[in-house]
Amino acid sequence: MKKETVRTIKARKGKEKLVMITAYDALFAKLFAPFVDMLLVGDSLNMSFAGRKDTLSATMDQMLYHTKAVCAGAPQSFVIFDMPYGSYTDPTTALQNAIRVYQESDADAIKLEGGEEKAPIVKHLVQNGVAVMGHIGLLPQHVRGEGGYKVVHDQNRLLRDAQALEEAGVFALILEGVKATLAKDITDSVSIPVIGIGAGTDVDGQVLVWSDMLGLFEEFKPKFVKKYCEGARLVKEAVQRYADEVKSAQFPDKDHSY
Ligand code: KIV
Repeated sequence: MKKETVRTIKARKGKEKLVMITAYDALFAKLFAPFVDMLLVGDSLNMSFAGRKDTLSATMDQMLYHTKAVCAGAPQSFVIFDMPYGSYTDPTTALQNAIRVYQESDADAIKLEGGEEKAPIVKHLVQNGVAVMGHIGLLPQHVRGEGGYKVVHDQNRLLRDAQALEEAGVFALILEGVKATLAKDITDSVSIPVIGIGAGTDVDGQVLVWSDMLGLFEEFKPKFVKKYCEGARLVKEAVQRYADEVKSAQFPDKDHSY
């Protein structure tokens, strides 16, 4: 498998759709790697793995721990580090933290949330050799400020955000929680790939949170999540069977004993 680069990803604009999925550990990263173009170590891990109510309490140390594991499990994958809340409040802080990402892990790029107001930060990072993916539309790190997760309808704002980030130098954009028709307009307005999540099909690729699409995360399910597997049910059935067999002394049997 040939590893994607910023150049090969940008070249996919308007061509073959880009496939992206989150990954939080080596075991699953290795399973996902052959089928996807990019692995995102998303701060969504703070909810599905760390059991917190939103992504805001994720830290650099926590994200680095998971990123190192993902890079170890999938060394041939293009891995993106999701900058946690508070780690990119100004250009200097953002660069210091991005340097940490490159020095302490093998991540290929970082992702940060926000639109035109983040353009000066993105520009500073790109000028210093950091590959940056943008994230506009519904911003999970703004959930407390916004009072919930809401679909974004403001076309002018989204167009300004996409264009400002492209000018600042992002190599691709995530567009989250936007009606399909509007997502198409945003996608057509820039020359970099737009990866949708809850943004319909007229974009350059898709990303999903792995524990959502495998049906493992049961707290809530956004409308845009398609479950490709009944993960929670399968796991519960397997563990139930194991527990039953331990109690009835059916396990271990002869085949599983020395
Ligand atoms: O943290 C994450 O998993 C993300 C995706 C929702 C794109 O940012």
